[in-house]
Amino acid sequence: MPTPLPSGDEVDESVLQIWGKTRLSGHVTISGAKNSALAIMAGALLCPEDCRLRNVPSLVDVGRMSEILAALGVKLQRNGNILDINASQISQSQAPYELVSQLRASFFVMGPMLARLGVARVPLPGGCAIGARPVDLHVRGLQQMGADVQIDRGVVLARTRQQRLTGAKIYLDYPSVGATETLMMAATLADGETILENAAQEPEVVDLANFCRSMGAQIRGAGTNTIIINGVPKLHSTDYNIIPDRIEAGTFLVAGAATYSEISLSPIIPDHLTPVIAKLEATGAKIVMDAPDRMRIIPGSSIRPTDIETLPYPGFPTDMQAQFMALLTLSEGSSVITETVFENRLRHVAELSRMGADIRVKGNLAIVRGVPFLSGAPVVATDLRASAALVIAALAAEGQTTIQGLHHLDRGYEELEVKLQQLGANLKRVSIQTSPTEAEKPATSPQEAKVKPAS
Ligand code: EPZ
Repeated sequence: MPTPLPSGDEVDESVLQIWGKTRLSGHVTISGAKNSALAIMAGALLCPEDCRLRNVPSLVDVGRMSEILAALGVKLQRNGNILDINASQISQSQAPYELVSQLRASFFVMGPMLARLGVARVPLPGGCAIGARPVDLHVRGLQQMGADVQIDRGVVLARTRQQRLTGAKIYLDYPSVGATETLMMAATLADGETILENAAQEPEVVDLANFCRSMGAQIRGAGTNTIIINGVPKLHSTDYNIIPDRIEAGTFLVAGAATYSEISLSPIIPDHLTPVIAKLEATGAKIVMDAPDRMRIIPGSSIRPTDIETLPYPGFPTDMQAQFMALLTLSEGSSVITETVFENRLRHVAELSRMGADIRVKGNLAIVRGVPFLSGAPVVATDLRASAALVIAALAAEGQTTIQGLHHLDRGYEELEVKLQQLGANLKRVSIQTSPTEAEKPATSPQEAKVKPAS
């Protein structure tokens, strides 16, 4: 995380230096799920009493969501991976732009605030590196529940026409995770029954539903494409444990396959990883369960090519696409990767190509021709999962790689380099002094930048 600008105009930015071709071994502990924690933290706004959340990962995004909730008047207390939230006094109905603009998931506060207060003002989250990411499905659903919603100078202003939102039958044009979560939360305090059709089925949606149910919400069908919510007047306090992060687990499994390493990981929920396991086995790796929540990957003798198409759950997760691309650059053949969920999520191709990968892109489709080896190089992370893909490629590559843009990685991986070092990886985080313009330019060699070990 860049430190505030020193008096000169240099930026202290950390980079990851990785020396590849090292076998990993041992066990890694998987943290709580980022995409559950963010939605559940926003969901705590529905409750006028204490909420204790357990297994909350320490991530930049979680820190930002905490700041947004605090700015709304919520009391938060963190103790290790336990987060106590009390939203009895919500003093603000407007989420601050400077915080919201840094975290797309901040839009999750819209539904709970509107349901609880009858009014909410949230700046439009805007697009990000991977796509335009509109919120039209969220807005349309809230309008169907009886809210007046206007967008005025980049701020979404929503107000209930009656005392409370009203239950409605809502068909989602696309099984959007965010829209399903927004509308499910809003419906918990609405008057009457809401039916969400073509709803998202992701495990994080189910985790949020279970969290709301633990506060007294009446929700059925989460995890299927039809969710039925009967609104209740008020929710009560809860003590809730967040699920393990299936994307972090998938990232470590792919790191094991790409470095021909046998590693084990826990806690995991195997069902959440079905498409990831299927594709790892297609590449020749073997997955065994040593315990109900403990998985081990046994690498194959080579990496076989396989085609991947990202889809909403239970299809192959878009959040694992980049990591698998890194793996398939070393396969013994050609693989076709089709990204159908986000329109701009192939930006890691250019950086993997710097390392010697052979990838052709046509629209949202990438043809990955396997090469015998990758070579270490200076590369730049362009988004969260792209940064994980570069780490995997660097662990498998010959020589040293320097990865810049770690602010992406820190958003979604808890202590990734510490966990990798514990598995025997040869890497370290160092901070380099760069001028602000340098910070965004493709990495120069460490010799050209002033290097000092990161504090
Ligand atoms: C969630 O984003 C996750 N983020 C994403 O994880 C994940 O990639 C995505 O779901 C899909 O699984 C969090 O949970 C915080 P969507 P979300 O609404 O809710 C379009 C990561 O790496 N759409 O299912 O924003 C949208 O543009 C992140 O951890 C509309 O058109 O995803 C996209 O193309 C990245 N209108 C598609 O649907 C809408 O109103 C899927 O978006 C909403 C979405």
